[in-house]
Amino acid sequence: MSSFRTLDDLGDITGKVALVRVDLNLPMNGGSVTDTTRVQASAPTILELAEKGAKVLLLAHFGRPKGQRNSTMSVSMTLDAVEDVLGREVMFIPEIHGPVVEQSIGILRNGDIGLLENTRFWTGEEANDTDFAKGIAANGDFFVNDAFSAAHRAHASTVGVANILPSYAGRAMEKELKALEAALDKPEQPVAAVVGGAKVSSKLAVLENLVSKVQHLIIGGGMANTFLAARGVDVGKSLCEHDLTATANAIMDAADAAGCTVHLPYDVVVSQEFAANPTSLRICNVHEVAENEMILDVGPLAVEALADVLKTCRTLVWNGPMGAFETEPFDAATVALAKTAAALSAEGSLVSVAGGGDTVAALNHAGAADDFSYISTAGGAFLEWMEGKELPGVAALSS
Ligand code: 3PG
Repeated sequence: MSSFRTLDDLGDITGKVALVRVDLNLPMNGGSVTDTTRVQASAPTILELAEKGAKVLLLAHFGRPKGQRNSTMSVSMTLDAVEDVLGREVMFIPEIHGPVVEQSIGILRNGDIGLLENTRFWTGEEANDTDFAKGIAANGDFFVNDAFSAAHRAHASTVGVANILPSYAGRAMEKELKALEAALDKPEQPVAAVVGGAKVSSKLAVLENLVSKVQHLIIGGGMANTFLAARGVDVGKSLCEHDLTATANAIMDAADAAGCTVHLPYDVVVSQEFAANPTSLRICNVHEVAENEMILDVGPLAVEALADVLKTCRTLVWNGPMGAFETEPFDAATVALAKTAAALSAEGSLVSVAGGGDTVAALNHAGAADDFSYISTAGGAFLEWMEGKELPGVAALSS
């Protein structure tokens, strides 16, 4: 891991203005925030800076307004949730730079917290425009990035400002980078990766990177069908990217060459229709899928065998569900394997790291998330990290 400064490296910050990049891209329903995990993750950083007497200005994006003001994507939509989590009043500042921000800083007392408007209301954000970054930086004494989940974006508020002001990793960023290092950069071996989800095409680079890093690659979800088909299995009317046969074979060849075992299901849960508890549901060997059936989950025998694989491993990286987990009973494989991983983690024999879009929902659904060693709040950034890419927002913090 490259070295970066943390909040421990800050001197006296009384009265200094801390610009803190957080991720407030929160899920909403009917105008209310439905999940505050990302705010909770950054709360220790924000409160630590405030307690040390800084004036804390939060920088965040919300949605994709494409360089224009849009009231439905004002960061102020998250203000109540932020105040609730922090247990503190937060001043909303409807600008990102300039005199309104300056005046607001004048009003804030040491230890107070302000929330700046959506960074993406300005075109300079996504363009990582130097003048725009300078405008933001002009109001701060130092920069803290606590938004790993936005670190795959080379934007002004993740990279530009970090290049201008003295920069530090926040507590959540620090924790995330340490967990990820323990998972893939310097893991205890053997390492298993579970990669699930619908499509191979969305995780090609992930698979290509993992085969040279892990000893066991467990493929589930719709993407397993593409690999099975590439091995000559007739997958009926399952979701399958037949045009990726050659790619899937190349990944399996690369895995063989690297000494990585690719685990595909040998029994599966199939149905003629995709609905909850369908009457046509049955469990069969992968070679017995009928023309009018689709594979919707990994079968129980394969799950048992995969659990045995996890028991031999010291590290696990998990991204993506094993089946169509939102619809019962196609959540069974995801739930069973997640529970095994959670139990092994709880007893201390496995370091388990999970992240990315559906994954956290799937692990929560399995009741397994609390026992995982680390659950990332990142979606796209977690995937790019699994692809082995250097994330610009992290690179900008490295000294
Ligand atoms: C996320 O929600 O994953 C991050 O906030 C990044 O958002 P983006 O995909 O709109 O850049």
